[in-house]
Amino acid sequence: KPRLMSGMQPSADSLHLGNYIGALLSWKELQETHEAFYMLADLHAITVPQEPAALRENTRRTVAQYIAAGIEPSKSTLFVQSHVPAHAELAWVLNTITGFGEAGRMTQFKDKSAKQGSDSTSVGLFTYPILQAGDILLYNAVEVPVGEDQRQHIELTRDLATRFNSRFGDTFVVPEPYILKATAKIYDLQNPASKMSKSAESTAGIIWMLDEPSVTQKKIMRAVTDAEGGVVYDPATKAGVSNLLTIYSVLSGQSIASIEAEFAGRGYGDFKKALAEVVIGTLAPMRERALELLADPAELDRILNAAADRANEVAQATLDTVYDRIGLLRRV
Ligand code: TYM
Repeated sequence: KPRLMSGMQPSADSLHLGNYIGALLSWKELQETHEAFYMLADLHAITVPQEPAALRENTRRTVAQYIAAGIEPSKSTLFVQSHVPAHAELAWVLNTITGFGEAGRMTQFKDKSAKQGSDSTSVGLFTYPILQAGDILLYNAVEVPVGEDQRQHIELTRDLATRFNSRFGDTFVVPEPYILKATAKIYDLQNPASKMSKSAESTAGIIWMLDEPSVTQKKIMRAVTDAEGGVVYDPATKAGVSNLLTIYSVLSGQSIASIEAEFAGRGYGDFKKALAEVVIGTLAPMRERALELLADPAELDRILNAAADRANEVAQATLDTVYDRIGLLRRV
């Protein structure tokens, strides 16, 4: 089977609807046709300050949500990045073939560091995309299912793989991003000009996977729409409603056109009530399953242990080849 690799940062106590729609839905589908490696990116998470006890807990919470979303440990390798030392090691090697200016052009870094100021921005945040490139290349992944915000990092990964291959001989598979146009970017319900994001200032427009249903209901009823009325998809002039339509369509399997037809001549209140039902219908069972899994942390740890063995096997073999190719004297 062709290989697949992706990951999420365990940097909050819950994933959100953007993570689910933009990534987890594809992960679930692709695990049937690919050998999938799905990672908890804890080394990425520490590029901004994390409270140690919370990071540890959130790593388990995140894997529980992967499983609750339908990622099956019997089909996919669900592993913790720091359990596989090759990630940090390959990142070092890739650092040495990445241009300073090239890394400086990463827009996520520019956005995040602009918010933090240069003295509180870590060098780790700067080299973050290079660590991510290593994550992908260690597994010789042909595809990387992510949301739109990760596209530039995948482009960098492709550039680094190509550069390494031409300098040192064919070593890495050059991966393709797997980004579904319709669902690549879910927006904040209170601020439909911005993507739904873990690091948003206010969480009022973020649907967390582990929110209680009543909270989800309230957030949807309060979602920003427009004064014009009309359940019509038009991202340019009706960003809020269009985002809600996207969410409705993906989670219900109904086309946007048929939803528009169903709500023609009806108010936003009706539409939002129906949307809340659809969203809660999807998230509530996942929330329950995740909480069940979290009640047995030893079982989660067992899953992560077995996965770490498999991930190490693949990643270490790639790293050995890399060290050899670049001329590091191998111990005998
Ligand atoms: P992270 O943790 O920010 O996000 C995890 C995944 O969710 C997608 N996503 C969204 N999709 C649609 N709409 C949104 N509003 C939205 N918000 C987030 C992201 O695109 C991503 O697919 N750098 C990565 C983690 C990572 C990784 C990797 C990914 C580390 N190593 C290797 C792929 C391969 C990140 O920060 O994701």
